[in-house]
Amino acid sequence: MADTRAYRASILHCVDDPAVAGAAAVESFEDGLLLVDGGRIEAVGPADALLRRIGPDVPVTDYSGRLLVPGLIDCHVHYPQVDMIASWGARLLDWLQSYAYPAERRYADPEYARAAADFFAGELLKNGTTTALVFASVHRVSAEAMFEAARRRNMRLVTGKVAMDTACPPDLRDSAEAAYRDSRELIERWHGVDRLGYAITPRFALTSSQQQLEALGRLAREFPDVHVHSHLAEQRDEVEAVLRGHPGSRSYLDVYGRHGLLRERSVFAHCLYLDDADRRELASSGGAIAFCPGSNLFLGSGLFDLAAADGAAIRTGIGSDVGAGTSLSLLQNLGEAYKVLQLKGQSLTPWKALHLATLGAARALRLEDRIGNFARGREADFVVLDPAATPLLARRNSTARDLAERFFALMMLGDERAVAATYLLGRCAWRRN
Ligand code: GUN
Ligand code: ZN
Repeated sequence: MADTRAYRASILHCVDDPAVAGAAAVESFEDGLLLVDGGRIEAVGPADALLRRIGPDVPVTDYSGRLLVPGLIDCHVHYPQVDMIASWGARLLDWLQSYAYPAERRYADPEYARAAADFFAGELLKNGTTTALVFASVHRVSAEAMFEAARRRNMRLVTGKVAMDTACPPDLRDSAEAAYRDSRELIERWHGVDRLGYAITPRFALTSSQQQLEALGRLAREFPDVHVHSHLAEQRDEVEAVLRGHPGSRSYLDVYGRHGLLRERSVFAHCLYLDDADRRELASSGGAIAFCPGSNLFLGSGLFDLAAADGAAIRTGIGSDVGAGTSLSLLQNLGEAYKVLQLKGQSLTPWKALHLATLGAARALRLEDRIGNFARGREADFVVLDPAATPLLARRNSTARDLAERFFALMMLGDERAVAATYLLGRCAWRRN
């Protein structure tokens, strides 16, 4: 126990999915202690009992009055889109043309990409996000810049070069062969290095030719432990266009399925327009959904049906989808999720919200053996939240009766201001002020 450190706070983490196990899914300690040894979780429990167990030489950081939760996990975000976040007045297909593609063009420049990736990684940590599944741009150097920025900080992060070879600006196209070759080389260079992972990243079915989807499916078969990351069924006109382009496919999901891109470690953002057969297929494949409530509201895409996803036992985590989402704060995105689900008649409990951003997100990314909660041996990524970060939060939380109410107030009223500190592998990576 040479490198043991202890953190005293109110501690919350999920041991199961609240949709399955109810309140028993969350372990909470009003006065808790987290013990970290060598960057891994050693134990979590009530402070009085654990303090008796550790020696006087173990340093105890006192975060009493704060909430300590596992590092937040963003299951879908585009780092080049920090440049055009909050762009006015468009829906998906014209938004891509007017804003996303022009912004992504700049990422051909390695210097530009490096500076943006560095900024983005810093913003994630400020927001308490310790792991993310990230779209780069079509340029290989953009993925390299993101890997470098995450590696410098020791973040667990998965990214990939976007593949797109049709129905997008000609100067932003790769080809089936180039996407296969560049993705393969990036896998060989970066996948499994430190805490990094690769995601094969066809932008969406509309911007990849059949040949490109086939080539990426082949790559996915050759590297079964890399992720596949794409968009699925976000807006109705997009779904119609995909079905027109693939008349032999039963559904939009089926287009990915037929090309070998639906499997364990496939993560699809949005999934607003699925039917029950799609949900069964997604669940049985082991693929996952990134629920992107902020983005779905901003682009007017629709209201995600979380109860249906849970009913089908699909792995689901939260995604900010910046820049169609307007906040990197997963607290804010959980607040948006709550409002979306109110409109669906499904009240999101604070515990289910916590799950979407921690253990549920880790399960969606199939990283639950490493991150997502405080089980012994997990990597010690965690966030310290301040329930009195703003005068309004302080006022609201002064009458909160329990930890569930305090966490709920934080997700409805909080954002990066509520993140007091972010830890990676037991080391402080960000501290407010
Ligand atoms: N579908 C294809 N590309 C994108 C993108 O960049 N953002 C969103 N929200 N949807 C997409
Ligand atoms: Zn997206």
